[in-house]
Amino acid sequence: MENVLVQLKNINKLFGGNKVIDDVNLEMKKGDFVTFLGPSGCGKTTLLRMVAGFYEPDYGEIIINGRNVEKLPPYKRNTPMVFQEYALFPHMTVFDNVAYGLTIQKENKKVIKERVEKALELMQLAHLQDRYPNQMSGGQQQRVAIARALVMNPEVLLLDEPLSNLDAKLREQVRVELRLIQKKLELTMIYVTHDQQEALAMSDMIVVINKGVIHQCGSPADIYFRPKTKFVADFIGTTNFVEGSVKNKEGSEVQIDYVGNVLNVISDEPIKAGEKAIISIRPESIKISKEVKVGTSINLRGKIKHSMFLGEKVRYLVVDEYNKEWIVDSFDSGREILDGEVMLNIDKDKPHLIYEK
Ligand SMILES: Nc1ncnc2c1ncn2[C@@H]1O[C@H](COP(=O)(O)OP(=O)(O)OP(=O)(O)O)[C@@H](O)[C@H]1O
Ligand SMILES: [Mg+2]
Repeated sequence: MENVLVQLKNINKLFGGNKVIDDVNLEMKKGDFVTFLGPSGCGKTTLLRMVAGFYEPDYGEIIINGRNVEKLPPYKRNTPMVFQEYALFPHMTVFDNVAYGLTIQKENKKVIKERVEKALELMQLAHLQDRYPNQMSGGQQQRVAIARALVMNPEVLLLDEPLSNLDAKLREQVRVELRLIQKKLELTMIYVTHDQQEALAMSDMIVVINKGVIHQCGSPADIYFRPKTKFVADFIGTTNFVEGSVKNKEGSEVQIDYVGNVLNVISDEPIKAGEKAIISIRPESIKISKEVKVGTSINLRGKIKHSMFLGEKVRYLVVDEYNKEWIVDSFDSGREILDGEVMLNIDKDKPHLIYEK
């Protein structure tokens, strides 16, 4: 990969005999917004803390901009971290909180004032600079914590779930702001979240982690449409799994047998005829209608068990003729909500084959 700024090589970390990070290998590009995504307890914070220098790996190398840093203390790495609990100094004003790192470095007063003011302005906090943390909302405090890291002109900025205390609307707004600042300053950022929407919305690259193991690294579209493991498919959004067997394979055209029906799938995985196959099909990739459609795609007969009006879409639970339950999203929610017998129609470029080694 070109322009690699951060490299993790065979990183392992144990806590009391438990392997919490299991042989992680990863390359992150300069100027990228990289997200560590995974369920609670999967090791996201631990991995981020190792990049920041708060934990030392038991085994492995961390290389930032060509130099090994795994033995360097945090303050020598220029990788400030915004913590899950934003940890502001309660007895200091917003200005002094943001200025803290530069003051410790004994920067000159004029430079400190300029840089702090710029960081406060970027995070839209200029009007709050004389307040104390307990005089601000959780969201404002989170912004101060980000400004405090930004002011250091970090080589890599590390953020551990920095928006977790904001309500949904504000979180979306700060997400956009943060991404715009990151692009404008061409910052390299590693961002930790367990919120898949957030990861999809913000990242250049998503690293999906489960139980200390990386399941997949890729662009949001890769992770969403081409999940490599069942865990990834299930963790990112909602999906339908179909288990079948490979009937035929010609080039990348794979035919999967699903109880006598043929599901056409496009895949370059080295799967062979006769092998078991797991297919993931997203709810929005299935068309639901009252008519039988003709064509190469699959048509399944089903019955609506339940429907939910969710505003922009209607989500249906449909039981097919083989008693399998499907989740189907229809974005045509201005129309009537369907009921009773329906047909499910799946185009052949929509199903995704999961081939776990
Ligand atoms: N200092 C520690 N001592 C012992 N075990 C720890 C320590 N820190 C973390 N762990 C354990 O390591 C595992 C990974 O923890 P980590 O904090 O990295 O998870 P996480 O992915 O950040 O989770 P969350 O989304 O809840 O913040 C957990 O099982 C946790 O209990
Ligand atoms: Mg954490």
